[in-house]
Amino acid sequence: MNLVVVSNRVARGKANEPMTGGLAAALLPVVENSGAVWVGSSGRVRDGAQAEPIAQIEQLGQGALALLDLPAAHYAGYYEGFANSALWPALHSRSDLIRVSQDDYNSYREVNSFVARALLKFQKQDTLFWIQDYHFLSLGAELRTLGVKSPIGFFLHTPWPARSVIDSVPNHRDLVTAMLAYDLIGFQTEDDRENFAACVRADLGLQVRNGVVTSRHGRTRLAVFPIGIDADKFAQQAAKAASHPDVSRLRRSLHGEKLAIGVDRLDYSKGLVNRINAFDRMWSVHPTLLRAASLLQIATPSRESIEAYGNLQSEVARLVSEVNGRHGEVDWTPIRYLNKGYGQGVLAGLYRSAQVGVVTPLHDGMNLVAKEYVAAQSPVDPGVLVLSKFAGAANELDAALLVNPHDIDGMARTIAMALSMPLNERRMRHQILMTKLRRHSIQQWFADFLDALQDDGAHEPVEVEPLPAASAGLLGSRFMSSTARYH
Ligand code: F6P
Repeated sequence: MNLVVVSNRVARGKANEPMTGGLAAALLPVVENSGAVWVGSSGRVRDGAQAEPIAQIEQLGQGALALLDLPAAHYAGYYEGFANSALWPALHSRSDLIRVSQDDYNSYREVNSFVARALLKFQKQDTLFWIQDYHFLSLGAELRTLGVKSPIGFFLHTPWPARSVIDSVPNHRDLVTAMLAYDLIGFQTEDDRENFAACVRADLGLQVRNGVVTSRHGRTRLAVFPIGIDADKFAQQAAKAASHPDVSRLRRSLHGEKLAIGVDRLDYSKGLVNRINAFDRMWSVHPTLLRAASLLQIATPSRESIEAYGNLQSEVARLVSEVNGRHGEVDWTPIRYLNKGYGQGVLAGLYRSAQVGVVTPLHDGMNLVAKEYVAAQSPVDPGVLVLSKFAGAANELDAALLVNPHDIDGMARTIAMALSMPLNERRMRHQILMTKLRRHSIQQWFADFLDALQDDGAHEPVEVEPLPAASAGLLGSRFMSSTARYH
């Protein structure tokens, strides 16, 4: 099998590079070992809309990394525009933040088509394509247009929202139609898969039977593959990281005080404002925790040229300073707030130094920080994870303390409870969580998805039967109903 993995952002394989985001950091070890070609953006752009895609190839483990310069004329419309100002807010159920234009959508489609042309260079007879994430919803359809018959899988790292939300993106019907060119679509949770299936039924008038949709593209299977981490490797990294200068300086600075840690991209989906309000409330309601517990919040700047992100950055900075002004002392700062990225190695050590991990997004596909925090703990004296019930990770990590990130009082109470949880309960919860992390490892996720994609066999277009009357008006006769292949 010749595997080609595609994602907008890629990782370069250096252990202490600042965190590149959930997807890239998670994929790096498995792609490196698989011998795959990993294709993604170089971060540079190139002039000339019709330019031939050129890839800079580097070795990556047993395989290769192919970096594409994306077309300059369409990059902003694709990345800052349609992907991150229309799709990202919609996928995270923030219809109020959707900013969309036809030009941005055209650029998004252009970049998808450009990447598809570039991928042809990596196609061999037994190639499997595995496309990652919301940047490339229409890439499979572009590959089919170019005559590619190989199996093509797609994994969505974000949530898929309720129909009423995705309906706010004017081109959603086009995109969902294009997505049916994939043989297999993987989701993080059952809710995401059900929301997508509801959209296929209602917007395209197609049936989803036993997780399979049949369209003019052929059969598309919808399945759930929760992404994981290599928990034991992360635990070893955390144990080793104690001697890292940043980690030992942090530990020395605490003087017996307890620490809670939050590590997030500066993104409105991460619930930072609510989290800081919860700490504010906790210190007001439990004054005994003043000087006894502080928060280290790492908030890595992200997508800074987009207005919503700029606004959030100012809002969080103002709030942190208000809370520090309200509760701080000449020799005590309640919230240490850092706007930079750290490598996985240092982060592992920082997580292990904190008695509480706060992962409280308003909505999140999975959230691998939650899993990393658990894996980094010492089994002898583990910290406690406080986790939003709206993160995909909450489906597996139900032995964490689950919170509603909109309930500030509830979060304040739960964080205080986490800070004082007795050792035997912490150990018991940690053991349960580690068992789950080991069962759903990143290696297992990778293997399960590829097995399912290979099981689906080569891409075969299907014959078209007439649609039921109710949906025929919407779609014409290009789509068909079918007998499911999966039981
Ligand atoms: O699915 C979310 C994701 O693609 C993750 O890889 C990461 O959390 C983030 O988005 C990266 O965003 P960007 O590439 O825009 O920095």
